[in-house]
Amino acid sequence: MQNSTAPSPPIRRTDYTPPPFLIDTVALEFDLVPERTLVKNTMRVHRNPDAARAPHLELFGEQLEFANAAIDGVPCSAVRLVQHGLTVENVPDSFELTISSLCKPVENTTLSGLYVSGSNFFTQCEAEGFRRITYFLDRPDVMSTYSVTLRADKAAYPVLLSNGNLLEEGDLPDGRHFARWEDPFCKPCYLFALVAGKLVCIEERVKSGSGAEKLLQVWVEPHDLGKTRHAMDSLIHSIRWDEERFGLELDLDRFMIVAVSDFNMGAMENKGLNIFNTKYVLANPETASDTDFANIEAVVGHEYFHNWTGNRVTCRDWFQLSLKEGLTVFRDEEFSADRAYGQSNGSGEAARATKRIKDVLALRQMQFAEDAGPMAHPVRPESYVEINNFYTMTVYKKGSEVVRMYQTLFGRDGFRKGMDLYFKRHDGQAVTCDDFRHAMADANGRDLAQFERWYSQAGTPRVAVKTAYDSAARSYRVTLTQGYGDAAPAARETQKGALLIPFAIGLIGKDGADLPLRLEGEASAASGTTRVLEFTETDQTFTFVDVAEKPLPSLLRNFSAPVIVEFDYMADELAFLLAHDSDPFNRWEAGQRLATRELLALAGRAASGASLQLDDSIVAAFSRVLTDESLSPAFRELTLILPSEAYMADQMSESNPAAVHAARQFMRKRLATALRDEWLAVYEQHHTPGEYEATPKASGHRALKNLALSYLAELDDPAHVVSRASKQYASANNMTDRAGALLAMLNAPDSGRGNQAQEVLDDFYRRFEQEPLVIDMWFALQALRRGSAKRPVIGIVRELMAHPAFNLKNPNRASSLIFAFCMANPAQFHCEDGSGYAFWAEQVIALDSINPQVAARLARSLEMWRRFTPALREGMRTMLETVAARVKSRDVQEIVTKALA
Ligand code: TRP
Ligand code: ZN
Repeated sequence: MQNSTAPSPPIRRTDYTPPPFLIDTVALEFDLVPERTLVKNTMRVHRNPDAARAPHLELFGEQLEFANAAIDGVPCSAVRLVQHGLTVENVPDSFELTISSLCKPVENTTLSGLYVSGSNFFTQCEAEGFRRITYFLDRPDVMSTYSVTLRADKAAYPVLLSNGNLLEEGDLPDGRHFARWEDPFCKPCYLFALVAGKLVCIEERVKSGSGAEKLLQVWVEPHDLGKTRHAMDSLIHSIRWDEERFGLELDLDRFMIVAVSDFNMGAMENKGLNIFNTKYVLANPETASDTDFANIEAVVGHEYFHNWTGNRVTCRDWFQLSLKEGLTVFRDEEFSADRAYGQSNGSGEAARATKRIKDVLALRQMQFAEDAGPMAHPVRPESYVEINNFYTMTVYKKGSEVVRMYQTLFGRDGFRKGMDLYFKRHDGQAVTCDDFRHAMADANGRDLAQFERWYSQAGTPRVAVKTAYDSAARSYRVTLTQGYGDAAPAARETQKGALLIPFAIGLIGKDGADLPLRLEGEASAASGTTRVLEFTETDQTFTFVDVAEKPLPSLLRNFSAPVIVEFDYMADELAFLLAHDSDPFNRWEAGQRLATRELLALAGRAASGASLQLDDSIVAAFSRVLTDESLSPAFRELTLILPSEAYMADQMSESNPAAVHAARQFMRKRLATALRDEWLAVYEQHHTPGEYEATPKASGHRALKNLALSYLAELDDPAHVVSRASKQYASANNMTDRAGALLAMLNAPDSGRGNQAQEVLDDFYRRFEQEPLVIDMWFALQALRRGSAKRPVIGIVRELMAHPAFNLKNPNRASSLIFAFCMANPAQFHCEDGSGYAFWAEQVIALDSINPQVAARLARSLEMWRRFTPALREGMRTMLETVAARVKSRDVQEIVTKALA
């Protein structure tokens, strides 16, 4: 039914019309049986006075078996089953509609709708999964209150959860029992959830700001109970933070988090019953890395913050997705930054900058790439074929940057005023990105009409900077020019005009200190040494006056807008900024520019077979950072780790993964050799003895120490490095150190001791056999290996596909092996014989019939094919065509069609 082969037409934003009917209340009754679950759905329906009159009520339904229907208690025969669901003909203006239907949770491998994971039931309704549970007006602008009765076998499903408050529970005949839940808040159906099974929880009672007592629970399988503390702490911190920073209180008496190991994404903000991928809940020091701990805090925060930004105020239609996702990512980024600040005792700004750098790295590596390819779309897309394909880096991360720009323009207080007005106007409503922008504009007395272009134009803006110092006039002119360069066709058609770009700038004097800033026409220098220029024209010149000496500009401080800055710094100027910029983000940025420039030159030489050499001044600049103890270890690690191979390949005029790999490896080895003693000293200085702490400070030490180890593993004679690594591996009291040591051993050149790497891998597997999330990492580490001509990684990957612990149906496991190889090991994946592409095609086709959402994500790893060298391009195109001819899902069809267009 849903998998017809006829291409699906796109849905367009401008075709929006209000729903012809509204549903006030929904009463759901579930008889939960894995093979055949009966769902009885009783709805109070009435005609929407604000919509065009429609005689028939059309409800969506997918993969459902219709049983019967009644209107106002009378069996109804005016029901017609249609392709997308069912039509109830000639309905009255207001009525009660009851529909019963059946679904098959145990056969549902899509993980959308009602499904079984392990032996428990879970649901995932966003975006359009509710229609796989019952017939409904499955669209976010239809909001209802829900009452849910769950019935199931008591021994097999002792715990029965749904949204809101538990009203009643009790036993039924035949060993069954029931629970009745009621959610007092109106919500769209995508926020519905149920969970049933053998689960246990930790719980806490906390008082919210107004003094009300709240019950918090984290539900997991019994053997995972000891890994829930960090998630609970993260939830408590999230609740406090939203009260303090935004005055937003938890509105329910009870808030639950449930972990499930089969899940398509990170987590889901169902009202009062958040459902999480286990990866973002379970942690203890032995099994979870520092990154895992940080991700859990961020995702718990993200889902919790949705309670206001997403749930209390929701989206009118799915084109507005960034209204909730961009805003909520911004909120979780700020939450993590504030947490890092609070835990840093004294070095708060550096800790905040570290978080900012990581967020910008992710944006640039993934969102900039998306914006340059065939899937480029505005933060508020104009059309889609399958909405699941639009949970993208653009909607989430560029969306977050767009929200951040309001705060950059209006300050934290102005932003807060805008948020307050947004909730005052729209609490309980389903609204648009324009509504949010208007609240920000009105609360701050500003016209933000031009700012709308950030929502409607795709592609990454470029800002070219020209400067001129006039020593006689003591003035410094900064001319900014904006455009999109040669954007991808998908982006170009959306580009209409200049953006309002908040462009933060500082001027640095010869001594490295910031100069005072006074713009022409101003009476005196403004306070502070960073100015946010409002750059609104295609070309615009800003003149600073009273500038005593020729300054060095520090551009786009703290990455004040999601753009690419083009300015021809000299290498020694970058080294100067790296040493002196008062803006920690731009200090890091100067190092990135230096490294990127060097790597690009090296990759160019590698591509043409020329010999490689690293400039001594680069080594010197790196050496200064490595040994500068006034810099936080976390900052040093971020500066010294070279840009990723994937990012570097994107920077080339023609992506050449093999050349990038050669260049990056060469540079790593040179830095390892030239700074060997410094790396060794840093390695010894940054141990974190004593009990494990997941604080930003402790993880900074571990990050720098393990980076040192990884550089040292590049040395030709790695014997003493391997012995250090092996000692670290054996004595580690946490996963970051154990995995860091394992990685160093995997990468160290084989010093004739043969199978040592394999022995550690085997040991690692045995130690953690019972821990699926760690075994995921075990698969990933191997998919990410460097490989050699004798042993290409595709061979390792194919062997691992046959490993008894491999399971294509589990998204975490599938991605640990397949996605890691196809997306994060470019040099091996883009192997010239095309073996990587053939493997990709096989897996996309296999996943397509299991889980289209996951298949579509994997399909995206070839979308940039036109940007590669001709030899690789052909191989990719062939496999894209193979896949296009074979796959059935709308999800994958949309991706490959756009890639080939
Ligand atoms: N709303 C979820 C979030 O970002 C995203 C999500 C979870 C999702 N599961 C999904 C989106 C399944 C689409 C399909 O917090
Ligand atoms: Zn979200």
